[in-house]
Amino acid sequence: MLASRWLLCVVSSAVCVLEASSLDTFVAAVYEHAVILPNVTQLPVSSEEALALMNQNLDALERAVTSAAKQGAHIIVTPEDGIYGMHFSRQAIYPYLEDIPDPQVNWIPCNNPDRFGYNPVQKRLSCLAKSNSIYVVANIGDKKPCHASDSHCPPDGRYQYNTNVVFDSQGKLVARYHKQNLFLGEDQFDAPREPEFVTFNTSFGKFGIFTCFDILFHDPAVTLVKDFHVDTILFPTAWMNVLPHLSAIEFHSAWAMGMGVNFLASNIHYPTKRMTGSGIYAPESPKSFHYDMRTKEGKLLFAQLDSHPHRPAVNWTSYASSIEALSVGNKEFKSIAFFDEFTFVVLKGIAGNYTVCQNDLCCHLSYQMSEKRSDEVYALGAFDGLHTVEGQYHLQICTLLKCRTMDLSTCGSSVDTASTRFEMFSLSGTFGTQYVFPEVLLSDIKLAPGEFQVSSDGRLLSLKPTSGPVLTVTLFGRLYEKDSASGIRVHSLIIVLMGLISIIYASLRLHSEFQVSLG
Ligand SMILES: *[C@@H]1O[C@H](CO)[C@@H](O)[C@H](O)[C@H]1NC(C)=O
Ligand SMILES: *[C@@H]1O[C@H](CO)[C@@H](O)[C@H](O)[C@H]1NC(C)=O
Ligand SMILES: *[C@@H]1O[C@H](CO)[C@@H](O)[C@H](O)[C@H]1NC(C)=O
Ligand SMILES: *[C@@H]1O[C@H](CO)[C@@H](O)[C@H](O)[C@H]1NC(C)=O
Repeated sequence: MLASRWLLCVVSSAVCVLEASSLDTFVAAVYEHAVILPNVTQLPVSSEEALALMNQNLDALERAVTSAAKQGAHIIVTPEDGIYGMHFSRQAIYPYLEDIPDPQVNWIPCNNPDRFGYNPVQKRLSCLAKSNSIYVVANIGDKKPCHASDSHCPPDGRYQYNTNVVFDSQGKLVARYHKQNLFLGEDQFDAPREPEFVTFNTSFGKFGIFTCFDILFHDPAVTLVKDFHVDTILFPTAWMNVLPHLSAIEFHSAWAMGMGVNFLASNIHYPTKRMTGSGIYAPESPKSFHYDMRTKEGKLLFAQLDSHPHRPAVNWTSYASSIEALSVGNKEFKSIAFFDEFTFVVLKGIAGNYTVCQNDLCCHLSYQMSEKRSDEVYALGAFDGLHTVEGQYHLQICTLLKCRTMDLSTCGSSVDTASTRFEMFSLSGTFGTQYVFPEVLLSDIKLAPGEFQVSSDGRLLSLKPTSGPVLTVTLFGRLYEKDSASGIRVHSLIIVLMGLISIIYASLRLHSEFQVSLG
């Protein structure tokens, strides 16, 4: 593509400048990498051993970058923890860390590797970007010494950050982002005191970047889109799939659509930990995605995207608040989805209109199934409340889902196969937020590109009969302002308490193995 543009230059150098300075579309690549994990993650290894392990992973990333560049990609995203793995103690991660400077220093590590000390990983990533003329996005660890005079300085005298870096097609470091919302058990890292809003311009749009668990919170994720007006989000992640609403491809594609941005999500490939699911998502539809629990191989994805995607305006409550309840007198029941107690009604017929409410949220559904099977139950559910397990965040969710078995207490439980296709559906809710992420997930964890849309009055509508049986059709809403339920004072009290608890934990050397679900 670039070659044909440069041919144009021969014809007219004026056209050349215009053409080269801005592209309407670009090719994105995302690599789901089967990370080679170190055997030792609780005790420090030598820096030579650490580098040897990282070089093994960099060898695989190099093959992906080279292949992506050959196929015309302008940018490639690689996963969180993709160079050294996860589940480290604070001391054990240290030999893997490098001092990563602020990109303002204007540095091409490949040309000048020793300018900021010994940084072999940054040098190698920079050279990969430069020699292949492609933007390279990777996740590595940053270390910054601090002094006891800094009251926040950790006892070991340094900050350690989970860090995304971006090198441009000349190998220059153009972005450094320290992960804000660390996941439970990510004790090897510190969160920056204030969220960092990291963006950079290219000839193919403005980019923003954040990491994994950040996607559930307002800062920096929402602010990058709302106030910094980025076109495309770069998203390295180590995401453990959780059904029915938080599998990687499902939630990440929904965020792209809900926020009106391109979204490049690169996950680790680690099926035994339920980590798989990467994709290239445009606001109107997923362009490419990968979910694979069967093989151990990595996967390189490509798609062409608009450099400046169109951001449609949606009023998420308009339709739902304008209509009466679609049915009354249906028997409601309660059941749990990922630790949250939903209010459900069963879908009785092959077609119908239903409403179910919980607290301030009412959800309306009109649907028609292709057949009404006697061995499957579908239900419409509503949840309006504070989720408190593995993170605290207020949700408003309207969901049509397949119950795991015929037993209604399994509605909301994890299930990944179904047999019922839908001829049509229309789902809406009286949301108290403009941040609603529309999800459609089909049997065997497949997306449904081009099969549905969101109308400006806030309905999630099918455009055609579904191409496969349906697991869930969901509007996943976030009320960020209600995350700390009782306000600032309780919030700071919790922070103080958490600080005390972590000190006690550290002193007792209790490193419990949390069953993490996201990264
Ligand atoms: C971990 O240990 C196994 C068995 O000793 C060995 O085969 C493997 O190469 C080691 N992995 C690394 C990354 O050193
Ligand atoms: C990025 O580009 C936009 C317009 O395309 C411009 O307004 C903005 O100043 C640029 N930002 C930087 C950091 O160059
Ligand atoms: C959305 O629609 C509702 C109902 O029609 C209206 O009351 C509300 O003001 C609208 N919200 C916005 C942000 O336009
Ligand atoms: C559902 O409502 C629509 C109009 O709101 C109506 O045309 C349709 O017949 C209803 N379906 C059933 C099964 O009641």
